[in-house]
Amino acid sequence: MLRIAHATDIHWTCRPPISSLFGKRLLGSANLYVRGRARHFTRHAQDHLMEALEELSPDMLFLTGDLTAQALPEEFALAREQLSTLLDSTPTFIMPGNHDAYTHASVRERNMESVFGDWMHLRNEGIGVFEHDGVYAVSLNPCRPTKLDAVGAVPQVQLDHLPQVLSQAPENDFVTLALHYPVVGKHGRPYAHGGHALLNAPELIKVLNACERRPDMIIHGHIHKGYRSEVLLDDGHTIPTFNPGSGGYAYMPKKDRAACFNVYSVEDGKLIGVDRYRLGPEGFEPEDGGAYASGR
Ligand SMILES: [Fe+2]
Ligand SMILES: [Fe+2]
Repeated sequence: MLRIAHATDIHWTCRPPISSLFGKRLLGSANLYVRGRARHFTRHAQDHLMEALEELSPDMLFLTGDLTAQALPEEFALAREQLSTLLDSTPTFIMPGNHDAYTHASVRERNMESVFGDWMHLRNEGIGVFEHDGVYAVSLNPCRPTKLDAVGAVPQVQLDHLPQVLSQAPENDFVTLALHYPVVGKHGRPYAHGGHALLNAPELIKVLNACERRPDMIIHGHIHKGYRSEVLLDDGHTIPTFNPGSGGYAYMPKKDRAACFNVYSVEDGKLIGVDRYRLGPEGFEPEDGGAYASGR
């Protein structure tokens, strides 16, 4: 049996140098430090997360983006340092979140790739392919700098390539599709509206309908409270989707908020179990009643 750990939206945060405080980063920093969003994510939670994952020693680790708050080189360096034990010991697949592509300059200067390129396993057109021990995982990158909202869209060229990339999965492998944005919301409808949307979620679902080889599961982040759902295809086939919720969330029991991560158990190319861990006063513990039993 294989255990795949999945964490997302850890949001390691550094105060930006004054010289970078203009445009979107000025507004973002006001949101983080004046309105207090930075307090939503704590080193306490992030440190516990690293400790819990290191202790768990999974067979592989997937990180579905938003490692940083503002895609600063200092934030990527901090994330790299904090992840170093895991990256040295565990085959890892990393993809960007919208906060890792925060400004046009951060994308142009490849702030993320220059630090995490070895674990992004990029092939053509921004699609990543990670193959390890019977697991075949494909990442899409719908993240792009925006003005004020946090919407994304899978580039058409990635939608065009996806069926072929999925079809290259070895016959008995467990196939995972991983991206930062949700494909569907909690209730199974395309996550295509509002300021945080994956704008072309319906198009991605159309492509999945047409794929001969379909993913066995879809994992994502972006929404900081976790949920599981499923993509319903036209022929009645369903693909389970999992968002653990933010791995860097401050422990705030009064607000019913805590960091989480998931562990997927895979055997003979099939998903046989999901465990979700939640930060409590003593560190991470398995969620009471099983993954997502708490409904939060
Ligand atoms: Fe996030
Ligand atoms: Fe996000």
